[in-house]
Amino acid sequence: MSRKIKIFDTTLRDGEQCPGASMTATEKLEVAHQLARLKVDIIEAGFPISSPGDFESVRQIAREVKGPVICGLARAVPKDIDRAGEAIRPAERGRIHTFIATSDIHLEHKLRKSRDEVLEMAVAAVTQARQWTDDVEFSPEDAARSDIEYLCRVVEAVIKAGATTINIPDTVGYAVPEQFAAIFTALLNKVPGAEKAVFSCHCHNDLGLAVANSLAAIQAGAGQVECTINGIGERAGNTSLEEVVMALRTRRDFFGLETGIVTQEIVKASRLVGKATGFQVQPNKAVVGANAFAHAAGIHQDGMLKEQTTYEIMRPEDVGLDSTRLVLSNRSGRHAFKVRMSALGYELDGEDLDRAYQRFLEVADKKKVVFDEDLVALMAESEGLHDTEFTLEYMTVMSSLEGVPTATVRLRRGEEFLTEVGTGVGSVDAVYRTIDKIIPVEHELIDYIVSAVTGGTDALAEVTVRLGRGEQIFTGRTACLDVIEASAKAYLQALNKLLYYGDRRSHTERLAAQEV
Ligand code: KIV
Ligand code: ZN
Repeated sequence: MSRKIKIFDTTLRDGEQCPGASMTATEKLEVAHQLARLKVDIIEAGFPISSPGDFESVRQIAREVKGPVICGLARAVPKDIDRAGEAIRPAERGRIHTFIATSDIHLEHKLRKSRDEVLEMAVAAVTQARQWTDDVEFSPEDAARSDIEYLCRVVEAVIKAGATTINIPDTVGYAVPEQFAAIFTALLNKVPGAEKAVFSCHCHNDLGLAVANSLAAIQAGAGQVECTINGIGERAGNTSLEEVVMALRTRRDFFGLETGIVTQEIVKASRLVGKATGFQVQPNKAVVGANAFAHAAGIHQDGMLKEQTTYEIMRPEDVGLDSTRLVLSNRSGRHAFKVRMSALGYELDGEDLDRAYQRFLEVADKKKVVFDEDLVALMAESEGLHDTEFTLEYMTVMSSLEGVPTATVRLRRGEEFLTEVGTGVGSVDAVYRTIDKIIPVEHELIDYIVSAVTGGTDALAEVTVRLGRGEQIFTGRTACLDVIEASAKAYLQALNKLLYYGDRRSHTERLAAQEV
């Protein structure tokens, strides 16, 4: 029997923490259900003390999502642990994950505490967490830069206090594989009682080494890997779930290890997270990128036609991709549309199906054929956040070589209609300035990106807009046949998110306000 590696998914906690990736409670629940279908072992559902919204969302997931252990994060302070304990209480199986930094840099500059004080806090936190659940994880934050002798002392003490999982984070993505593996080897060999706990790795991707470091840790004895769908997370992100899982599966001959992941659910999970966060993956992303299984070179295509394994190390169907490429048109019925969407990773029913089918027909009426890429782009538009959001009701734009570009925009919010006229240096600028007159909310435009989804002048234009306010970033993404319409809708989507989440302070701001 090969050793089984537990998959701890932190998309809803570390993943959601990255600027611009905020999800609504409904989206988080939907992602959690998909993680359960994927059969991850543990879902880190959020950081309950960080906001009432996060607390509610963890509690709702604990109540409704069956199968995986539901985990809540807590700093090593009493109020955090009680809040996390309360949030995970309704779960079939609940875990508290508590953490405190152990590197000298963090002790001196962030915590301003001595090594003994931090050790005492870690033990107290684990002891308190054990009063809520017998499944307690402890993380020495910035472990990869911590003194190994001190790290061993802390780990020994928290295992004695009842921690059942010891997670070793490379918080700042500084580690390299051999060095990271050596930390695990040292802990597993030196710490008395190490055999009583599962050791876990948690890597960040600042040097592009998160997956490599995680695999090295697993080879050195880690029994759990922490990761996120599409590798989203703070800064350059976390270990990507799909990459680490498919590496273990594809190279089983080398690793000799297993996970319990239903890999056929990977693409659905990736698409769902892309849609909920507004962060679509780049085309060349390993495992889930649009080109991950596309073979362009003639020599490769020839080899593939003769024998798939000549150039393909994984089969598209193993990650849930349908390898047949179909084209839909305005004569395609709802059923054909639903089946195709399901093959692309979107399970649509009821109102969601009606809305998506309607959007598909609008495009199919103008564009003769609708490709898979078009369907995926159409799905990027997220559903309404709340009933007070602004929607685009009407828009005209006048632009000529000599004149000043002028836009008239009418927005709707509930029963209210708001109209303004404005000018700008170009058509998009005129539209954005006019929308700003209607919604005068402070922000800066960080990114405005346009891309054509397929080839041809009738291709869908996909526009991504990122708006910033303080440390927070809000993303809007829309695909339409008309580039100005897509620009206006993407801008509105980002503004709606800014209005919705505006009062939620960013993770870092929230933590800074509550000194550990
Ligand atoms: O990166 C990190 O150190 C974390 C901890 C809370 C585990 O996310
Ligand atoms: Zn992290």
